[in-house]
Amino acid sequence: PVMRVAADDLLVWYDRHRRRLPWRAAPGETPDPYRVWLSEIMLQQTTVRAVGPYFEAFVARWPTVAALAAADGEDILKAWAGLGYYSRARNLIACARAVAGRPGGRFPDTEEGLRALPGVGAYTAAAIAAIAFGRRAAVVDGNIERVITRLHALETPLPAAKPEIRRLVDAITPADRPGDFAQAMMDLGASLCTPKRPACGLCPWMKPCAARLAGTQETFPRKMPK
Ligand code: ADE
Repeated sequence: PVMRVAADDLLVWYDRHRRRLPWRAAPGETPDPYRVWLSEIMLQQTTVRAVGPYFEAFVARWPTVAALAAADGEDILKAWAGLGYYSRARNLIACARAVAGRPGGRFPDTEEGLRALPGVGAYTAAAIAAIAFGRRAAVVDGNIERVITRLHALETPLPAAKPEIRRLVDAITPADRPGDFAQAMMDLGASLCTPKRPACGLCPWMKPCAARLAGTQETFPRKMPK
C-alpha cells in the first residue's frame, strides 16, 4: 500500500463492529481453547450461520475437552450429522482424546504443538494459537486473502499468491491482540470487504488500500484461469 497500514485502525473498528459469535469470549474475558478449537474445526468447511446451533449444542452437552474425550464416539458422530465432512468429526474425536491424554489435559499452546494434533492444519493451528493463546501467528483464510490482496493490489493470482499473502499478513499482525486482529480481518471480509460491491466508504483501511485508490477493488483477488 501507498500508506502505512495500521493494525490499530482495524482493532478500533473491531471493538465497535465485531460480530457477536457464540465461540468468541467477551472483551476482557480469557478465551477457552476448547471452544476456540471446536469452533475452528466446525468452521473449516461450514458457514458461520450454519455452525452456530451445532456449536451451542456441543458445548452444552460436552462443556470441556475432557467431557468430549470421554464421550461415546457414536454420540458425537450423531450430534455432528448435518455439518457434513465426517472425517472432521472423526479427527475431532481423535484430537479430543489426544488432548485429554496430554499433561494436565490441556491443549498445546504453540502453533507447532497444535499442528501435531489430528485434524489441525496450518490455518487452524495459527487461528487457535492467536485467538486462544495470544500468539503472534499469521492467520490466513479466504476472507483474509481478499482483504490483503486488495490492500496491496496484489497482481499475483491465487493460488500462487499464497506464500506472499502469508508474508504480508505476518508483517502487519501485531504482537498485542493477534487473535482479535485475525478475527477483525475475518469480520471485515464478511461485512465490508465483500467479494461484490465492497463498502469501502466504511472501511477502517480505506486510506491505505491500494485497490481502492485505483478503483479496482472488485478485481481482487486475481485468480489463475481455470
Ligand atoms: N471463520 C473461521 N474462524 C472464524 C472466527 N473465529 N470468527 C469468524 N469467522 C470465522
